[in-house]
Amino acid sequence: MSSRTPLIAGNWKMNKTPSEGAELARALAAQVGTESAVQIVLCPPFTALASVSQAVDGTHLAVGAQNMHDKASGAFTGEVSAAMLRGLHVSHVILGHSERRSIFGEDDAFINRKVLAALEASLKPILCVGELLSEREAGRTNEVVRVQVEKGLAGVPAGKAEQVVIAYEPVWAIGTGKTATPAMAQEVHAFIRGLLSAQFGAETAGRIRILYGGSMKPDNADALLAEHDIDGGLIGGASLEAKGFIELVRSASRSLGG
Ligand code: PGA
Repeated sequence: MSSRTPLIAGNWKMNKTPSEGAELARALAAQVGTESAVQIVLCPPFTALASVSQAVDGTHLAVGAQNMHDKASGAFTGEVSAAMLRGLHVSHVILGHSERRSIFGEDDAFINRKVLAALEASLKPILCVGELLSEREAGRTNEVVRVQVEKGLAGVPAGKAEQVVIAYEPVWAIGTGKTATPAMAQEVHAFIRGLLSAQFGAETAGRIRILYGGSMKPDNADALLAEHDIDGGLIGGASLEAKGFIELVRSASRSLGG
């Protein structure tokens, strides 16, 4: 058992209108809104941030965005800044998700600028890293993850490092129903903690949450969350229904007692 507060984040991706999002958020708030042993973050699309923020107001549930731009304002059609998110009571932001990297061409340098801008604005970045299936099969998992972590966190001041959350999401496990085994995931999580330790020192690294993401579901969560360096989950598909997501929160809560 570690001293880190587990974190369960729901990545709703491009799902839920403002009213559907508020409805799901209210259902979650009614069940786990007073849960304090587990940190819970809902990440709806930009268009549902306001309604979801309102729905969870006064509960322990926090709200995150799925992306942002690194610049504060200007001619960036279609983009959203950290200050705009803060204005909607957003506390977290997912950055460098594999879908942003692969579909929208985001590279480590751009993602790094976003991480720094988020921290500057007191938003907690959830930095996603993970290898492709071909990279795992070629034995390159650690190398790929190392580059993404080191470049993604370049220039992060040690004093702000604890605000960062890392999500290890093997790309081949996202939305596919294939999960990394707990041992496979733990191995990469421990490797990531070693990288954090090299950059920020062991004490700080020991306080940074490292989430697992990629087909995490109620039936595999207990085993994953039992691993020493797995501090929670970034949940896609299973975050879209209240029942499954609540079960994942309960799993995280159980992992504290184990
Ligand atoms: P999944 O997505 O749980 O549907 O695999 C996870 C993610 O992409 O963050």
